[in-house]
Amino acid sequence: MQRFAVIGNPIEHSKSPQIHSAFAAQEGIEIHYQRVLAEPDDFISTVNQLQEQGLIGLNITLPFKVLAHANCLQLNEYAQAAGAVNTLSFNQGDWQGANTDGIGLLRDLEKNIGLSLSDQRVLIIGAGGATRGIVLPLIEAGIAELCIANRSLSRAEELVSLFADRSQISACALADIKHESYDLVINATSASLSNQVPAIPAAVISSTTFCYDLAYANDDTAFMLWAKSHKAQGCSDGLGMLLEQAAESYFIWRGFRPETAALFPLLRP
Ligand code: ATR
Repeated sequence: MQRFAVIGNPIEHSKSPQIHSAFAAQEGIEIHYQRVLAEPDDFISTVNQLQEQGLIGLNITLPFKVLAHANCLQLNEYAQAAGAVNTLSFNQGDWQGANTDGIGLLRDLEKNIGLSLSDQRVLIIGAGGATRGIVLPLIEAGIAELCIANRSLSRAEELVSLFADRSQISACALADIKHESYDLVINATSASLSNQVPAIPAAVISSTTFCYDLAYANDDTAFMLWAKSHKAQGCSDGLGMLLEQAAESYFIWRGFRPETAALFPLLRP
């Protein structure tokens, strides 16, 4: 039986074993997929041990995505742009890194929700690792404009400078967000985890604006409730992105593209 794992800290909350086992069942195979808890000091030795034991693929979650990136011999373009790796494969012991988070977001927005991103004006709130992972796929989807707004302006500016060859990206402080509506507003801050909504003007929402929270929960997140209260056209949390990034990882490892639709009700009781 082929072996896979997800490594992080904490890790017991991870839904990845359930998701990947369901994907394997679709393919008609059985896999062994385990959760692995690591400390920063033993992350590299733990991954090498897993690889020596014959592991085929490894998902990387917080706080190890950047460390994994630094130790890969090969990186795909999304991992390079994200500066982070969430999907690891091995080639004769060498680490090969990919990042499927941004593609996961794109698939959820376009395939599951039905948005067309071409020529859209997009506002991302937050400038941390989560934002960096989604910029390149959004640009490749043909958006017209991307504003990255952050509480601390310098962090947004630093991130935008990594994509300096892309003229449609700009940075601003939360307090300086223009009071005009966007087609898509993405919350990529960690505020939802503490039930907070970033301080952004309601004017970014009109009746045609879609609001997407990268965080997910069993109930609407604080950002989704805020979007609904300002009559956004629609809103979603990031459960679909979680499923789609997993499907892309599975495709990288197995060359089989799983369907995600049947998994939504399983993961959201
Ligand atoms: P991640 O890797 O998940 O993106 P991170 O690198 O810690 O996590 O980044 C967290 C992001 O959420 C940052 O953009 C942070 O803003 P600052 O850079 O100004 O700290 C943002 N953030 C967290 N809580 C927030 C809040 N209550 N309001 C606004 N922004 C918040």
